[in-house]
Amino acid sequence: MNQKPSAKEAKIRSTNRSEILRDSFSLTNSQKELGKNLNAHIITYGCQANVRDSETMRGILTEMGYAFTEDAQMADLIILNTCAIRQNAEDRVLGQLGYLKKYKDINPELVIALAGCMSQEESVISMIEKSYPQVDIVFGTHNIADLPSLLERHYREHTRVIQVYSKEGDVVEQLPVLRDLSHKAWVNIMYGCDKFCTYCIVPMTRGKQRSRLKEDILSEILQLKEQGCREVTLLGQNVDAYGKDLGNTEGFSELLEAVAETKMERIRFTTSHPWDFTRRTVDVMADYDNIMPFLHLPVQSGDNEILKIMGRRYTVEQYKEQIDYLRERIPECALSTDIIVGFPNETEEQFKHTLDLYDYCRYDNAFTFIFSPRANTPAAAMEDSVPYEEKQKRLLLLNEKVDYYAEKANQAYIGRKVKVLVDGISKKNDKIVSGYSESNKLVHFRDENYRVGDIVTVKITGAKSFYLEAEKEE
Ligand code: 5AD
Ligand code: SF4
Repeated sequence: MNQKPSAKEAKIRSTNRSEILRDSFSLTNSQKELGKNLNAHIITYGCQANVRDSETMRGILTEMGYAFTEDAQMADLIILNTCAIRQNAEDRVLGQLGYLKKYKDINPELVIALAGCMSQEESVISMIEKSYPQVDIVFGTHNIADLPSLLERHYREHTRVIQVYSKEGDVVEQLPVLRDLSHKAWVNIMYGCDKFCTYCIVPMTRGKQRSRLKEDILSEILQLKEQGCREVTLLGQNVDAYGKDLGNTEGFSELLEAVAETKMERIRFTTSHPWDFTRRTVDVMADYDNIMPFLHLPVQSGDNEILKIMGRRYTVEQYKEQIDYLRERIPECALSTDIIVGFPNETEEQFKHTLDLYDYCRYDNAFTFIFSPRANTPAAAMEDSVPYEEKQKRLLLLNEKVDYYAEKANQAYIGRKVKVLVDGISKKNDKIVSGYSESNKLVHFRDENYRVGDIVTVKITGAKSFYLEAEKEE
């Protein structure tokens, strides 16, 4: 029996505390054989939560005997791990599905699976059922662990299999994982989100907030450290609310401090929300050298009225106070943000307030978006007086500011020495090594003897808006 997502159910929040499930995942003998001599290929869209989920899928598929191929044309199984945050993210996936149909004409045995946030949307699944026969399996963000049984069912019955739960499940510990990298790792600290910003689909696609237990997070990090990992990024849709569902309101700063005490060399976290972001968190960041001086604090708008309609629950003044405190305690801290332009009925004046706030904060970087109406969110139902061309104009204006301050912030590094964790050869130039500085700047330099995972000191010699150029110190 197929099980499809329900938009109505996805909005419901129960007060029940989620259970922590251990050792709940196991494969039958036939599932362990299912992937023998088969190649899988996963295409990941969207945020780091999806990147980390794809690593779980790879772990599960490995235990099923699958190998992986970089070449989608060689694959027997292709999984699209999708994002629903804006319409253009969805359009990319639908375009890719159109493209993959050709592969299926060549190889009728090819299995195509749709996973991730789009799978959680009722309207998307209706469309897939009607117009995308090339999709064989659909599963969602709450039931990645069902992948083996869904594959088994599809191979046995040769029918389309849809299994998506609208209500989040429990916190499942100890799922298999095959990480992309060994020198840096994503570590989930919580799942889901309860904030319900009026424009955002995530509370529906990722369910209610469920924090992992502190001891499980710490033991994962200690194990990573033992395996030689040098950087972890703590992941959550809203990390500052960590622990609230467990009854602990200072949960995140306490957790961050405990993670710092593991002596993991580099610690980052994302994403923060000004609603829950506390001075105590800034204090912990300031107290520990191994918590990297970088903060991504999405502001979304610089206008109080718009912030209110967005349901953000802070004012521009409160946000500025947070930034002031951060800069006072950690002057070298780099800062980035997310901004939406063209929220329904945003006036020119209100948009100007966003530009003013940008001048105040002088961000190192920003991710900027035109408002995209998402199904079943309150903002999508609002009438909107702003023409799309006007929204595009505002985005361009804002992006000019983003580039201006990014370059300016980067120029301030010229002549300074920074420590870089080496990721490897640059994607664009095989003579150039790249990595990230402590303040999360992409740094390019030459080094014939580089080793992935080394932390090296380099001197900054040049600055562009998106990266720094450097020379290695001998
Ligand atoms: N339209 C445009 N941007 C959005 N974001 C979230 N929902 C929408 C939407 N409906 C942006 C926010 C968020 C980032 C991940 O994506 O800025 O912080
Ligand atoms: Fe996209 Fe949000 Fe889902 Fe991440 S949580 S994949 S950003 S919709």
